[in-house]
Amino acid sequence: MSALRERYGTENVIASDIRMPQAGDGPFEFVDVTQQRQIDVAVRRHGVDAIYHLAAILSAVAEEKPHVAWDVNMGGLYRTLEVARASGCAVFVPSSIGAFGPSTPRESTPQDTVQRPTTMYGVTKAAGELLCDYYHARFGVDTRGVRFPGLVSHVALPGGGTTDYAVEIFYEAIKHGRYTCYLGPDTRLDMMYMPDALKAAIDVMEADPGRLVHRNAFNVTAMNFTPAEVAEAIRRHLPDFRIEYRIDPVRQRIADSWPHSISDAAAREEWDWSPDYDLARTTEEMLASLRRKLSGEEEA
Ligand code: SER
Repeated sequence: MSALRERYGTENVIASDIRMPQAGDGPFEFVDVTQQRQIDVAVRRHGVDAIYHLAAILSAVAEEKPHVAWDVNMGGLYRTLEVARASGCAVFVPSSIGAFGPSTPRESTPQDTVQRPTTMYGVTKAAGELLCDYYHARFGVDTRGVRFPGLVSHVALPGGGTTDYAVEIFYEAIKHGRYTCYLGPDTRLDMMYMPDALKAAIDVMEADPGRLVHRNAFNVTAMNFTPAEVAEAIRRHLPDFRIEYRIDPVRQRIADSWPHSISDAAAREEWDWSPDYDLARTTEEMLASLRRKLSGEEEA
């Protein structure tokens, strides 16, 4: 949100959520994606010309509540696309590495490949990619999107994903000097630091449509690592940091069904995608930012 406001002006970006924001943050609309009328009213009231549709239930929670995940992820997307069709706005939709499954090639996963996900999250993401393509081909809605890997941020706390460990580990490293990881030490997944994710979302929406061969679901990645490797990167700054493993079979099974590394060649070719943050730089920034944030909280 703040990245969009920085680029387009605070008054030109309407935040929305099912939770009220802090006062003074700029224009806000309460929108529940399970209520099409609420999406429609917000879009019309502000003359919105592009929707960043980010509301979704992530992979681990979706396995606990598959029917809720279907309604929020699939129904929310369908309603958003319907509003976009009626009002002529563009739509950014994030897909995920979760749209792949165990029969997908696991190394350097190509842009166009086998997609047989085995999670409800993945089913909604793969179907969502198709629905976005359909709305573009059939109704001319300017739908665009990327497949995000695990996102690492010191601002947004993770909420029920399989890749959450890659955020929690930094908090725990600063707070307690140790972390118990629910994925095994060698579980390799693609990841991205939030500033790169914001850049990807903005760049794909601003991309010259004449260059786009794909529209939705561009593979994007910045790095891939295992819990053992991120622990090692943290130890370069905090030599006493310790990691233990207590595997959660549900999340491990989900992670084991996803690629180890995806190829973002199509995004690089069609809209010049190029990430700025590798593991070393992400680690440095996460630790420094969290140190500031957490010491501020203690003082407050
Ligand atoms: N970060 C997401 C999850 O773990 C994947 O897109 O569910």
